[in-house]
Amino acid sequence: MKGKFITFEGIDGAGKSTHVDWLAERLRACGLTVHVTREPGGTALGEKLRELLLNRNMHLETETLLMFAARREHLAQVIEPALERGEWVVCDRFSDATYAYQGGGRGLERNKLRQLEHWVHGHLQPDLTLLFDLPLEVARERIALASRSLDRFEQERADFHERVRQAYLERASACPERICLIDGNDSLENIRKRLEKTLVTIC
Ligand code: TMP
Repeated sequence: MKGKFITFEGIDGAGKSTHVDWLAERLRACGLTVHVTREPGGTALGEKLRELLLNRNMHLETETLLMFAARREHLAQVIEPALERGEWVVCDRFSDATYAYQGGGRGLERNKLRQLEHWVHGHLQPDLTLLFDLPLEVARERIALASRSLDRFEQERADFHERVRQAYLERASACPERICLIDGNDSLENIRKRLEKTLVTIC
């Protein structure tokens, strides 16, 4: 039996990362073997590419190709072998992020993204995507409170993040069977209840 692939998505400051480990623990409590990973990253090479992607200015197509290069390695080294073994993978961001950031935020033609997606993982999509959505002002306030230096995506202007948010929402309406919208502004308790309910649909 194949394992399941769950991804977390949302604009910067949406709060998704807080819930990744919690969800993985809930699944482990059900006796499942769960891998927690992230993009860009998740492999030694992918983490090196992440460092570049988050800090170096580059051409939009270079940025997009590097996101997919890191993803190809991640799929080959981590995601596909785990799923083949019947294990679960919980991943903080995947290709929906490329559609939202490079497509929505930066304006790359969707057709190019579709071609890369088809090439890199035409055969595989997440079983479930949890999209954390909240008003941009709330997300911006959360980012402003962060006590670390901001990466080059977090430093983008508000209109960039609004386009990213809209692109995510468009994807959620295009794939309602896969993408589950979570109110990232809701209380921790309510978000966890919602995640529990959603899990039942794929367990
Ligand atoms: P993180 O802070 O959630 O780990 O994500 C790192 C940043 O990378 C985040 O600002 C979104 C961005 N990103 C893209 O622009 N495209 C992608 O395909 C992925 C996976 C992330």
